[in-house]
Amino acid sequence: MIDHRTLRVALLGAGSVGSQVARLLLEHADELEGRAGARLELVGIAVRNVDAQRDVELPHELFTTDAHELIVGSDIVIELMGGIEPARTHILDALQSGADVITGNKALLATHGAEIFDAADQVGASVSYEAAVAAAIPILRPLKDSLAGDFVTRIFGIVNGTTNYILDRMDTEGADFAEVLADAQMLGYAEADPTADVEGYDAAQKAAILASLAFHTNVPLEAVHCEGISSIGADAIENAKKAGYVIKLLATCERLPAENGEDAAISVRVYPALIKRDHPLASVHGGNNAVYVEAAAAGPLMFYGAGAGGVQTASAILGDVVSAARRHIAGGVGVGESARGTQPIADIGRITTRYQITLDVTDEQGVLATVATILNEGGVSIATLEQTAVETNDGESRARLVIGTHRAREQALSATTERLAESGVVERVVTVLRVEGE
Ligand code: HSE
Repeated sequence: MIDHRTLRVALLGAGSVGSQVARLLLEHADELEGRAGARLELVGIAVRNVDAQRDVELPHELFTTDAHELIVGSDIVIELMGGIEPARTHILDALQSGADVITGNKALLATHGAEIFDAADQVGASVSYEAAVAAAIPILRPLKDSLAGDFVTRIFGIVNGTTNYILDRMDTEGADFAEVLADAQMLGYAEADPTADVEGYDAAQKAAILASLAFHTNVPLEAVHCEGISSIGADAIENAKKAGYVIKLLATCERLPAENGEDAAISVRVYPALIKRDHPLASVHGGNNAVYVEAAAAGPLMFYGAGAGGVQTASAILGDVVSAARRHIAGGVGVGESARGTQPIADIGRITTRYQITLDVTDEQGVLATVATILNEGGVSIATLEQTAVETNDGESRARLVIGTHRAREQALSATTERLAESGVVERVVTVLRVEGE
């Protein structure tokens, strides 16, 4: 039913996503009115420079530099400025004035989410942020609504397209990290400063958001264990391949059961991990994203698609705008977050996975026995072992050992790796990678 009302929509920011959101709001106004139940009137776009070049041609009279004036009196405020301030203040002002807020700002939500959700609760408004994780892929609403009656046990997400692009090319071309990164930067797949992507920080922010929704608890960004992909070389990719695996930067969110006198807890972590080449996530190529969810009743579910891009991300924003408009028409308070609990978050030492350990060792009698003894004494059981001779030009005999382990606790594994490094027979611990999805 159309209400014949008009809802005032304010847009903050007109970058690659914001300009596409404005375009879609204007071009599809009639269609969106039918879906939302009210006319969605784009009343203004707040930017720093009204004359800047945009990706899309938009009516000049919509632009303003006065975000505050635009916000006050709007029914729906879309924040696409990015960064912490002034985005945080504008969102709090919007909520205070009774507007529903839509944002794609994962950095802000991962650091100030609790403050923003509390402010929304106090006034009965809603905050929606589907675009903050995996852009076009609908994953937050399924976790928040569709799976609200189920019990999510684990999530594996490829939630950073830049690193997936790099690792995928390393896997197909056998190229080294630095080489592919430089090419990715030249082609525009990686930023000039790629730190946030390659060191896993972007994925960690998304993991905090995913885990908060999946486990109905508050996961602060500091609680997310984070390792990037800059130390992954062509040889690590090759060793993984030989053993039947592919390396992906995974955001893993997992419930850990109560055991050995420890309470149940959740683990949220980002690191490059090995997954079997026949796992559904192994087929995620290029800059795509995918989130694999395991739920007690639903079983495994996979969400796949574009994890970045202006118009793709705008799709997620528009979906939130239509939902917010429907809520405005129906009345009543915004749908509260169920992510406000405070479940304990486990230290990385508590997780249990299989591992692939790559060591350079001196090639002498008894070395393998020493390595096997240290692993055995550390409670780490060997599942597979491959030894190859390493060519040297110093006359010394060296070998490379690639050891696949059975499941072991991270605490035990890292203590064992330290003992191996200090054993006198190991020249270099080349890589220690976790195996996920088994
Ligand atoms: N830089 C991100 C990525 C996209 O490479 O996936 C925005 O979150």
